Amino acid sequence: MGKDVIVACDFSSKEAVLSFLDKFTDCKPFVKIGMELYYAEGPAIVREIKARGHKIFLDLKLHDIPNTVKKAMSVLSNLDVDITNLHAAGTTAMMKAALEGLTRPDGTRPLLIAVTQLTSTDQESMERDLMIHAPIDQVVMHYAETARNAGLDGIVCSPLESGKVHDRCGKDFLTVTPGVRFADGDVGDQKRVMTPAAAKAIGSDYIVVGRPITAAPDPVAAYKRCIAEFCD
Ligand code: C5P
Repeated sequence: MGKDVIVACDFSSKEAVLSFLDKFTDCKPFVKIGMELYYAEGPAIVREIKARGHKIFLDLKLHDIPNTVKKAMSVLSNLDVDITNLHAAGTTAMMKAALEGLTRPDGTRPLLIAVTQLTSTDQESMERDLMIHAPIDQVVMHYAETARNAGLDGIVCSPLESGKVHDRCGKDFLTVTPGVRFADGDVGDQKRVMTPAAAKAIGSDYIVVGRPITAAPDPVAAYKRCIAEFCD
């Protein structure tokens, strides 16, 4: 899969997400489904959006013992999603088990990417609550390398980190980056942001864009602007 814009469909109901997607009459954006929508509507919403022809990144961030994650990933693989994810903090054994669970009998599987340290975790909370004392950027890079060594396809990271992750983990190791804003847009609650064009220049493979598209007066135009800046 090449560079693409993934639209974060952070809606709380089937009605809301489908009426949003109905606006896209001449294109089928790659859609991210997160915990809120999945827990509200269950796997049926994944099947329905898939049946409408969208690719899906199912963002459920699994983190449990290897056997449990392996079985859960096997269920997600049957849902025919294109990308899913887990916490690298679950360790190598969990990540390898996840890959086994995701792999279908014919050898195909969805892409699997890892969350490193959440962007809501800072140096202070990581030291205090997690008792991790290394500098947070080193921790993120170590988790990225651990994920790559376990056989995963990439990580979720800030677009500001994409270049460094590719240098350390190889250019084929995918960087999927939220925190994208238009140069003339609202930053909202995101702290470290980049435009789609800058994310392209630094080498992000996929950008995840929510409110700049979902809350735009014309979401289709905003999506096409992202595609023009990031993909073309
Ligand atoms: O609306 P916005 O463009 O900020 O949405 C970004 C999406 O990416 C949301 O679904 C958010 O939960 C997700 N995300 C993020 N930062 C991370 C990981 C995921 O913003 N570090």
